[in-house]
Amino acid sequence: MGAEVVIEGLTKSFGRQAIWRDVSLTLPPGEVSVMLGPSGTGKSVFLKSMIGLLKPDRGSCLINGVDIVTCSEQQLYETRKLFGVLFQDGALFGSMNLFDNVAFPLREHTRKSEAEIKRIVLEKLEMTGLQGAEKKLPGEISGGMRKRAGLARALVLDPQIILCDEPDSGLDPVRTAYLSQLLIDLNAQIDATILIVTHNINLARTVPDNLGMLFRKELVMFGPREVLLTSDEPVVEQFLNGRRLGPIGMSEEKDAATMAAEQAHAAAGHSDGSPEEDLRGIVPQIEPTPGLPERQAVRRRKDRVMRILHELPPAAQEGIIASLTPEEQRRYGVRAGAHAAGRPRVAVPSPTPRTGFSGSLADTDVANLPRTDWGSR
Ligand SMILES: Nc1ncnc2c1ncn2[C@@H]1O[C@H](COP(=O)(O)OP(=O)(O)O)[C@@H](O)[C@H]1O
Ligand SMILES: [Mg+2]
Repeated sequence: MGAEVVIEGLTKSFGRQAIWRDVSLTLPPGEVSVMLGPSGTGKSVFLKSMIGLLKPDRGSCLINGVDIVTCSEQQLYETRKLFGVLFQDGALFGSMNLFDNVAFPLREHTRKSEAEIKRIVLEKLEMTGLQGAEKKLPGEISGGMRKRAGLARALVLDPQIILCDEPDSGLDPVRTAYLSQLLIDLNAQIDATILIVTHNINLARTVPDNLGMLFRKELVMFGPREVLLTSDEPVVEQFLNGRRLGPIGMSEEKDAATMAAEQAHAAAGHSDGSPEEDLRGIVPQIEPTPGLPERQAVRRRKDRVMRILHELPPAAQEGIIASLTPEEQRRYGVRAGAHAAGRPRVAVPSPTPRTGFSGSLADTDVANLPRTDWGSR
């Protein structure tokens, strides 16, 4: 089973530029998590901080009891071996063929024989659907294949934790769907803890067990996927639906005046091309390809989420209960409510009167968004 990662109060800045502060979350062992966030919110910086490539200002990141932030060089070196990382651009060596690229960590970090290395490399190339491509150079293959080669290389040291930085970037929707399936299939086969950072909504809706979002230098939320997918937070709503209207602006943040002007335009009937449809709601999660083992994390997660069910918002509770079979509902002693039958949906009226269109928040409200890490403790 993959390792648990416990992050507490992690804060990072470069000089006087704060990137994010007080990020606390737990990646449950063997589960798949996605961190969403607009470009430039520090998602890549977050991944690099988790493996000690960047040094956070404060906070801790515990992996098997070792704090990556404060541990010795030697401990860091050892702990890094638990990670497989797929960097944003695949980070393959251009002059090496796929075999040598994937073999690289084995030749660097182990004393395995060439015969053993060959066995492992061919196995990982097959797992990632690259059998037969081992002689190809990175420049001779498609972007999707390069991503998969990067994943194969991330797998050779049998990682307990896999980090993927925008695995979908540069891929068309079909290739992204294949890659999403591959990530779930890998999780079923090796039960590793997986964290994917992305701004791809479709991947975020269908792949992970847990879903979080970074925005305005804060972790807006992190928890079971049902929480974010049914959330009423304006930032989440805007992001999931890919709308212009909302707190996220061209350069990440939007000031109150701009927001008010846009609301006025919308109220006057101006269309900015954003979809009318609301994409929030719980959609089925991708299952492993038939023939592969079941994901062990699914059962563990169900037990875990049912333990914290009462702490979750009502819409998420409804969605989770509705996803259980009648037998599971009996076992956990819960019953789907009268309104839980259809697609769980939240239409909670705001407790405080707000100006403008529904779902808008004043700038100060946005700054005070709950930093809930539901279920992470
Ligand atoms: N090594 C670095 N030194 C200084 N600033 C950096 C460094 N790496 C990233 N940044 C800054 O941190 C911010 C977040 O970057 P990044 O993590 O790449 O965002 P994302 O991956 O979410 O698009 C950016 O403003 C970027 O310029
Ligand atoms: Mg990035």
